[in-house]
Order: sequence, then C-alpha cells, then structure tokens
Amino acid sequence: MTKPILPGEVAAAVIDPTAYAAWEPLHEQLAWARANAPLAVAENPTHDPFWLVTRHADIMAISRDPQRFANGIRPTVLTDRNGEALARAATPGGDGHLIRSLVQMDAPDHMKYRLLTQGWFMPKNLRIVEDRIRSLARETVDHMLSLGGTCDFARDVAAHYPLRVIMDILGVPAEDEPRMLMLTQQLFGSTDPELNRGREAIKSTEQAIAMLHYVIADFENYFRELTADRRANPREDIATVIANATIDGGQIPDRELAGYYMIVATAGHDTTSASTAGAMMELAKNPALFARFRDAATDKAGLIEEAIRWSTPVQHFMRSAKEDVEVGGQTIHEGDWLMLNYVSANRDEAMFADPFAFDPDRAKNQQIAFGFGAHVCLGQHLARMEMRILMEELLPRLKSLELAGEPARVESVFVGGLKRLPIRFEAA
Ligand code: HEM
Repeated sequence: MTKPILPGEVAAAVIDPTAYAAWEPLHEQLAWARANAPLAVAENPTHDPFWLVTRHADIMAISRDPQRFANGIRPTVLTDRNGEALARAATPGGDGHLIRSLVQMDAPDHMKYRLLTQGWFMPKNLRIVEDRIRSLARETVDHMLSLGGTCDFARDVAAHYPLRVIMDILGVPAEDEPRMLMLTQQLFGSTDPELNRGREAIKSTEQAIAMLHYVIADFENYFRELTADRRANPREDIATVIANATIDGGQIPDRELAGYYMIVATAGHDTTSASTAGAMMELAKNPALFARFRDAATDKAGLIEEAIRWSTPVQHFMRSAKEDVEVGGQTIHEGDWLMLNYVSANRDEAMFADPFAFDPDRAKNQQIAFGFGAHVCLGQHLARMEMRILMEELLPRLKSLELAGEPARVESVFVGGLKRLPIRFEAA
C-alpha cells in the first residue's frame, strides 16, 4: 500500500516554529489533516519524512505500545536532517541524543530510572510539599499585586512560580533560579530569537547545535557541583535521591546523571508556566468566567484541566517504529519516524465536543497534554497541584482582570505557549 502524503503546506506548517506562534492558522491545517489524512507522511526538503499523527486515538495507540514505538532510536523532538547528523557525530556511540534522560530511554533502562523518583511525584507524597507550594504561591501573588495594576503575566508571574516550585523540590537554592530559568528557555526556546542564547534568529543548524552544547555544558557543570554536595550532605530533596541512587548496583553514569537533573529541572517549568498563563488569558478575556472562578468556594479542577488541554504546552514528541505495525488503517514500517502532535489531538472533534471552545465544565476531559503510557508525564500531578494552588491564592485577591494588550506565543515547535500576556487588574 502506498503511503498517504500530506499537502506541502501542512507538512511545512508542522515543522515551522512561527506557525506554532501564529496558532490559529496551524489549527486549521491540523483540523484538515484530522479530517482528511489523520496519519500521513510529512515531506519537507530539510527533514527526514515522518508520519504526522493528528488523532487522539492514534496517539493513544502508539503511546501505549513502547515495545514497538521507541524513544531511543531517533530524536524524540523534531530535528532536521542536518541537526540529526551533527548530533549523531557529537554523541557517544552516535546515538544522536545530546541529552540522555528518561525521555530518550526505552526498556529496560527507562523503568529502572523512572522508578528512582516516581514516588516523589505521586499525589500522596506531594501532599507533604503542599504547604511549601502554597507559600510560594502567596509570595507570587504578593509580587504580582505589587506591580501596580498592570503586568506581563507570562513574563513577570507565570515564568517564575513553577520554576520556584520545582527548584524547591529539586533542592536548587533560590539564588540560582535565574540561571536555571535562562538555561531552560535557551534549551526549549532555542528557535525563538527573543529567548535563545545569542538573542538572534538562528541562521543554521550548526549554530543551533553549538548553542545547545553550551547550554547543556552549563547545566552539567552546575549539577556536577550539586551532586558532590548531596553525596556529602544528603537532604530531603530530589537532588539527594538522584545523586545517591544506584542502577544495576553502581552509581548513575555521568551522562544519565546530568540528563536526570536536566529533565526534572526543565520539564516542569516552561510547561507549567505556559498552561498557567493559558488559564489566565481565558479568565482575562471572559468576565463571567473570572467572576465564577474568583469565588474561593468554586472548585478549580475543571478550569485547570481545560487550561492544560487548551494550551497544550508540549506540542509534540517523536517516536520511531521498531517493526512494521498497523495503526489507524496505515502500515508503519520499521525505522519510520512519527510526530505525535498533541496540539492536534487536544482539538480532536472525535474526542472533544466543541473542541475549539474553552469549557471548564467538560464532563470527562481526556486531554492528552501529558502524553500517555510508559512515558506519561512524571510531573502531571505536581503541575495540576501547583496551578490549582496558584489560582486558589490569586483569583480571590483580584477585583477585576482584563487583557491590556496583544498576547504573543513562543516561536517553537516543541514547548510552546504564551511568552507575553499583558493584563490589567485591580486588587480586591
Ligand atoms: C502543564 C505542564 C506539563 C506538561 C504539559 C507536560 C507534558 C509532558 C509530556 C507530553 C511528556 C511526554 C509524555 C509521553 O511521551 O507520553 C512529559 C514527560 C515528562 N514530564 Fe512533563 N509536563 C508538564 C509538567 C511537568 C512537571 C511539573 C514535571 C516535574 C518534574 C514534569 C516532568 C516530566 C518528566 C520527568 C517526563 C519524562 C517522563 C518519562 O519519559 O518517563 N513535567 N511531560
């Protein structure tokens, strides 16, 4: 059977950072793909062809089958042909993974490493840190209210709070947070000229890879010192768990050690800030919604879940087929590369009634922003909890809330969301 090929403009849009920033036109392309070619190949001159997976059901089917759809073989985040070749040349054994964290691992390593910290991120353990998170949320609200009635919520508020939470849990001291924030934005936003290391548009893949090398080296240096400290002086934090963990009877090798810290340190803040800013944008646009949720008695769970679906901060992950497999009526061949497009799946008409409406009252919100299966987001309960606590602390303290300018999104194919959200507010 011949493979269905996507129209050139759809294939070009899903690899274009500016399309994810523009957002609405991209949704039109993805809606077209869901209706007409839900599992079809994107061909672009710069990239190896890959299957674009746009339907919720197909992403679930692929994610629940890690034996056949692997993370470790090819890049887990979309990379162009040149970038993949450069990364292969620059990595041990040519595996092409500049970082080796949980995300790049398959069985049997993946579960061994995941189980080292999984308990920390379960709701039962998170109750222990709830009070600390609430006090960070209160400080965040105090800071916002001190800004005098207007602010850029994305930059001044949302970017800092999840960072403080994850750094606190990880054990990174507060004075090092600005460095962590900058490095994460450089890592994930490396295609956005406002966020990357050189503060300029990336002109070549070589330049992007060189920049990533610097960013990764900075992270590694930082975490090397933290490891030495926690081996000498263990504490009640995740850094201590990682630094002192054993895998197959020995210490975690250096590369995996750095990868572990980096995934925990980075996966949890740009993402959660994006969904927090996404929630705030809808509240600022809709006075009735704001009035309802600013009431302290209103349960915030539906608002949080819908904001996560709506913003879908992690826009895709890639998988590679280890053997020939049938999915969604197509034959995927061994070695094929697939883009799980969560942005599309979270607007899938077959899964969500009226998917383009922001509706905190969805009876069963099966959003797939946290992925699914073996690699499902380790921090999903933490992300929900910190968003809920911030909304509980913030909304009752506001009398009014509205947009004060045009919001803007990050130019990135991977982790996206609002980088600017100008708002005007009055304290209650
Ligand atoms: C709204 C916020 C967040 C979103 C949308 C998000 C999304 C995701 C997605 C889509 C995946 C991959 C799932 C898959 O392949 O099936 C993932 C993995 C992961 N996330 Fe999150 N995440 C968020 C917050 C967090 C937080 C707060 C942490 C805290 C440390 C975190 C840590 C991780 C880790 C460690 C993984 C790798 C898991 C593995 O490969 O086994 N994330 N996340």
